[in-house]
Amino acid sequence: MVVIPLPPMTRLVDVTAPASPDKSFTHRAVMFAAMATGTSEIVNPLEGEDCLATLDAFWNMGVQRERRIESNGVRWILKSPGIDHLTSPSKALDLGNSGTSARLLTGLLAGAKNLQVTLTGDASLRARPMARVVEPLRNMGADITGPTDGRTLELTITSKLLKSRTHDLSVPSAQVKSALILAGLSAAGDTKVDLPEGGRDHTENMLKALGAPITTRSYLGRERISVTGPWRPKSILCEVPSDPSSVAFFAAWAAMHPGLRVNAHKVMRNKTRTGFFKSLKAMGIEVSWSDLVLSQEHLGEETGTVSFMASGRPLALCVSAPDAAAMLDEIPILAVVCATAAGLSRIEGLSELRVKESDRLFRIIELLSKAGVNARIDGDAIEIEGMTEISAFSFGSDDHRMVMSAMILATRGKSPSEITGISWINTSFPLFLKAFQNINSAIQ
Ligand code: S3P
Repeated sequence: MVVIPLPPMTRLVDVTAPASPDKSFTHRAVMFAAMATGTSEIVNPLEGEDCLATLDAFWNMGVQRERRIESNGVRWILKSPGIDHLTSPSKALDLGNSGTSARLLTGLLAGAKNLQVTLTGDASLRARPMARVVEPLRNMGADITGPTDGRTLELTITSKLLKSRTHDLSVPSAQVKSALILAGLSAAGDTKVDLPEGGRDHTENMLKALGAPITTRSYLGRERISVTGPWRPKSILCEVPSDPSSVAFFAAWAAMHPGLRVNAHKVMRNKTRTGFFKSLKAMGIEVSWSDLVLSQEHLGEETGTVSFMASGRPLALCVSAPDAAAMLDEIPILAVVCATAAGLSRIEGLSELRVKESDRLFRIIELLSKAGVNARIDGDAIEIEGMTEISAFSFGSDDHRMVMSAMILATRGKSPSEITGISWINTSFPLFLKAFQNINSAIQ
């Protein structure tokens, strides 16, 4: 796809970013619906490929699904026999590109009953580390085997009666913590997970809203979650809020084009997810929230309208490792904003970027270098010298967030840029392309 740069803005333009439902929330809503016995309803689910992989996985294990289109959007109706009565699928479950499906399902299915499941995925997912969930789960008595002995997919999980354990983790990974919490719901007694704080906390928030016996506390930069099993949810009814990680691409657009105001509605406002917005504020961008609502339908998550507008060039930024944890998915787009900022930016604590959908540390530097920006890796940090001019570039990736970041960067190029890998955007943000085109025409 060729992206034509935008001319400098000569008037104020007010646009609305698409309300793309939250990916993490949708995955978890489907998992809790499948755990419960009976009929659950999920309003406004994300119909991106990752979440559909989770939905398909349960359909292959006997969870019936229906999709209704209503005046206010889509509703999924799921009828489950309950986590203890799922059926073993006849073939391996293909989870595509979805790390969240792979990690959380491994934890959830390890403690189900009479189930044998093989999980696989695309080439990127099959390269991602699984030992971080498999090892602690084995410590709980999980039976997980595979050609690489559990280090990567494929994995075969044979459900077992799990034992509660205390886990001490060194990485603030929400996927690992969630896998262990979900396994803990099947183990008798208290399962505890202790880890550096900062990772997203939707599993905990949703479980609290569903009445689960779970407690959380923070101390000295670490968090401890304790869950008492066995516990099963009753059927759920929830509405999925908009995804702050998807809004981030349009917020970045506003940050890089003074005069463009971007508004987004019903956005999840959770401090483990809004680190990017906090960074934009530190870069001098106006970020304002209104219409805040805390409703039971969002299962413990607050939502609101958020608006972004820049009055000039963004300022350079320094991010420390604990702050980076609350915006790891947003680092590619943050790097793009830093590429246009005044001064040298430094973002620390990025080693986990090496094991995302692609090696994002490497990919960010590749993208920025192609666009004529001086950027380098320094240990687990990156440094970016902001430029007033971005060169036209060619860039391709099979990583949805890298492709969208490249498209936003190209709007500031000196001449048209060529970006390939567009279809990967469907992994998380099927509404992105249309909104990108609409906003482009609103500005031209
Ligand atoms: C996610 C957790 C994060 C994030 C991913 C979604 C989740 O991964 O990068 O896109 O829904 O739990 P890690 O927990 O591995 O950091």
